[in-house]
Amino acid sequence: MSDEQRIRATYDQVAHKYHRELGAELDGKPLDRALLDAVAELCQDEPLVDLGCGPGHVTAYLAERHTGVTGIDLSPEMIRIARIENPGVEFRVESMLDLSAGDASWGGIIAFYSIIHLTPRQRVQAIQEMSRVLQPSGWLLLSFHINDEDFKAGDVNHLTEWFGHDVDIDGYFIDPDEITKHMDEAGMSVVASTIRQPNPDVEYPSRRCYLLGQKK
Ligand SMILES: C[S@@+](CC[C@H](N)C(=O)[O-])C[C@H]1O[C@@H](n2cnc3c(N)ncnc32)[C@H](O)[C@@H]1O
Repeated sequence: MSDEQRIRATYDQVAHKYHRELGAELDGKPLDRALLDAVAELCQDEPLVDLGCGPGHVTAYLAERHTGVTGIDLSPEMIRIARIENPGVEFRVESMLDLSAGDASWGGIIAFYSIIHLTPRQRVQAIQEMSRVLQPSGWLLLSFHINDEDFKAGDVNHLTEWFGHDVDIDGYFIDPDEITKHMDEAGMSVVASTIRQPNPDVEYPSRRCYLLGQKK
């Protein structure tokens, strides 16, 4: 199985539980909501895409604040749930490593915790691809885990069990400097960076980073 097949199979398996347990998580994440609000405003009337949207709860939040929002995910089961939960919102199955969108077609991208399963080489490819589809001055907000009690930045956590399912997937802890460098090399400037502690009882207890970039 390729990396993408393993990621897709894992998320197809956990999609229902993921949605049930995390579908309302934004209620307990005021800082995340503020960052999403900022991007929805910055994008004005341009297309805004939630890349690696999972069950679509972040997409739905954006769609309440912005017209022209689309959710994209590798997992067909995630997209099936996202469509049922959010009938008025557009969703499609696609990989962020090979997007069908034309060059310079999107005004903004949200990628919340969707690069966390990509190998270091795939992270470069994904960020190049995000830059390719962004309009000049377009916006990218991406987030990822930096470290936790057991893992430091650069470490990989191989999961064999998740949400009660047997899975086969790697989760990467990532140094913000690495992603900043990739964004710079892909033609984006990091204009804001937020590092925060976990919200107790709401999410996995990791230290997290949010980078807001603008295409040059
Ligand atoms: C940790 S979940 C995050 C979901 C959602 N963004 C959130 O904040 O809850 C990671 C998501 O990224 C998706 N994903 C992983 N690799 C992907 C790829 N190459 N292209 C598109 N989506 C991908 C997975 O299917 C999964 O739904």
